[in-house]
Amino acid sequence: VDKYCVFGNPIAHSKSPDIHAAYAAQTGQALSYDKRLAPLDGFAAAVRDFIAEGGKGANVTVPFKLEAHKLARALTMRAQAAGAVNTLLFTDEGIVGDNTDGAGLVTDIVVNAGVPVTGKRVLLLGAGGAARGVVLPLLEHNPAQLTIANRTVATAEALVAQFAALSSGAALSARGYAGVQGQYDIVVNATSASLSADLPPVPPSVFAPGALALDMMYGKEPTVFMRFAAEHGAIARDGLGMLVEQAAEAFLAWRGVRPHTTEVLARLRATL
Ligand code: ATR
Repeated sequence: VDKYCVFGNPIAHSKSPDIHAAYAAQTGQALSYDKRLAPLDGFAAAVRDFIAEGGKGANVTVPFKLEAHKLARALTMRAQAAGAVNTLLFTDEGIVGDNTDGAGLVTDIVVNAGVPVTGKRVLLLGAGGAARGVVLPLLEHNPAQLTIANRTVATAEALVAQFAALSSGAALSARGYAGVQGQYDIVVNATSASLSADLPPVPPSVFAPGALALDMMYGKEPTVFMRFAAEHGAIARDGLGMLVEQAAEAFLAWRGVRPHTTEVLARLRATL
């Protein structure tokens, strides 16, 4: 049986083993997938141990995505662009680092929520690791506009500079929250503000009527951002679909088969 796992610290809460077990059953693949708590100063050693045990691949979550990026011998283009790695493939040529978070977000928006990105006005809130990982996948869908807003404007400006050459016609710009003007069709909260029940202070007028507002966080209850968005005319969505889709994308990278996600997402939702 091919072995996979997810590394994180903490890791007890991870839903990835359930998701990948469902994908394996659905596609008839024989594999095991468990969760591994790596010591904060022992990520690389934990990966090497897993490879020595015959591990074929791994997911990487907080706080090791940057370290995984450094550890990889080769990076996919999307992992290079993201500056972070959430999926490792252990090959004969060494460790390959990939990043499926952005593709997962875009699939959740376009396929699951049924909202095309092409031609739309997109507002990305935050400019940290989570935001950086989704810029390229969003730009690949040719939005009309991509505005990156952040508390620290300089970080948003750095992202705009990094991706300017790849924006292919999309109006790409950086702002502080208070400086966001106009309406957006898709608003993605990639800040970690929801963790502290906080809200990026954007004007409520940013939501076009019926806009999609997606928070990368999820939980039993809607986040503060989701409530704020819904109060101002948007359709709010949490990050559970993104979680399931980034896992499907990792499963595809490892096994060459893309699992169906609809039922897995519904089942996971019921267990929150
Ligand atoms: P992650 O990997 O989750 O993106 P990160 O790289 O530390 O974590 O980035 C956190 C993001 O959330 C940043 O955009 C941060 O804004 P700053 O760059 O200005 O620090 C944002 N953030 C965190 N707490 C926030 C809060 N309470 N209000 C607004 N933005 C917040």
